[in-house]
Amino acid sequence: MKTQRRSLTWIAFLFLFLVVAMTGCSQNSPKQLKNAYRNMFLIGTALNRMDILNPDSPSLPVVKMHFSSITPENVMKWEVIHLEPNRYDFTAADAFVAFGEENNMHMVGHTLVWHSQTPAWVFKDVSGEPADRETLLQRLRDHISTVVGRYKGPLHAWDVVNEALEDDGRYRQSPWMRIIGKEYIEKAFQWAHEADPHAKLYYNDFNMWYPGRREKVIQIVRDFLSRGIPIHGIGLQGHWGLDYPPLEALEESINAYADLGLEIAITEMDMDMLPSPGPYTGADINAHFEARKEIDPWHDGLPDSMQVVVSSRWVQFFQVLNRHHDKIERVTIWGVQDGASWRNNWPVRGRTAYPLLFDRNYRPNPAFDAIIKLPVEK
Ligand code: GLA
Repeated sequence: MKTQRRSLTWIAFLFLFLVVAMTGCSQNSPKQLKNAYRNMFLIGTALNRMDILNPDSPSLPVVKMHFSSITPENVMKWEVIHLEPNRYDFTAADAFVAFGEENNMHMVGHTLVWHSQTPAWVFKDVSGEPADRETLLQRLRDHISTVVGRYKGPLHAWDVVNEALEDDGRYRQSPWMRIIGKEYIEKAFQWAHEADPHAKLYYNDFNMWYPGRREKVIQIVRDFLSRGIPIHGIGLQGHWGLDYPPLEALEESINAYADLGLEIAITEMDMDMLPSPGPYTGADINAHFEARKEIDPWHDGLPDSMQVVVSSRWVQFFQVLNRHHDKIERVTIWGVQDGASWRNNWPVRGRTAYPLLFDRNYRPNPAFDAIIKLPVEK
């Protein structure tokens, strides 16, 4: 009896040991990108509708394994969540948040105010004429308080205003700007803060390393801070390529934004590696068979030589980001696997791009293998 009890105790002990060892491993495994970077910054990805609404999507195990933060690529944009006046559709956004909560992830809402992917009704009155200033302000306020209010708590941050500036720093002449004037930006931040005082509120834009845009962002943020308008973060969309941005310009910009004392995130990182499309911009690749080789050169796969070029560029970027990890809160890769990236369809539809860290079969690519090793090599 006694021996039996003793062996049972041993079995229980062994079992417990195995559970603890396995949990420990999975939380600290150097094979998980998020863990390799856990002392640097959060590593995020963007989820699309197909992943969010399909519990069997092959993306989900990859997301759970490698990423600590998620952003919805499209399902919180105005045209999805609020397609018609007085009718919100939270189906996919709710599923996104539920997935993040179940997996204890950092979550970013994207995006509240943008000139693109916003339905036309937002800017019009009942007769189809441009809406007046008061109407548009009221719509903006309702939208922000409804959407931010709904996810108050589980969402940690919001891309509040997206792409409000031109490369040279002028305000983009979007309908927001034309109808309301530049105050739409501060109003959006104020209303988002009212709806969720704990969420970190970001201004998000591309080419944030262009001097004109950078100076303007800095000027706006300083002004907001001096007037007590809540803004907590700057999002640098990382739609970067093999030959842009210059690493020094990226580094200078990170330093300049960090001097403002705000959080910095690289919000939408992917690698543009297809040739510049010239006259084919906006076209569908299928309409240009004769030019396919020239504008879609890697339709049948990326040759090793090219893979080397792409992954060394990822390494260069991550070396810069790692050097400044104390200033960077999060680096979000804009999607999970190459086949789902918007890069396959912009600026030409139907090309074959390789902009992310996982291939079309969800296998990590050489860029992944290279960047996951960087932090331990330091
Ligand atoms: C911009 C937006 C993103 C996304 C990309 C393309 O960067 O911020 O939401 O639409 O364009 O995917």
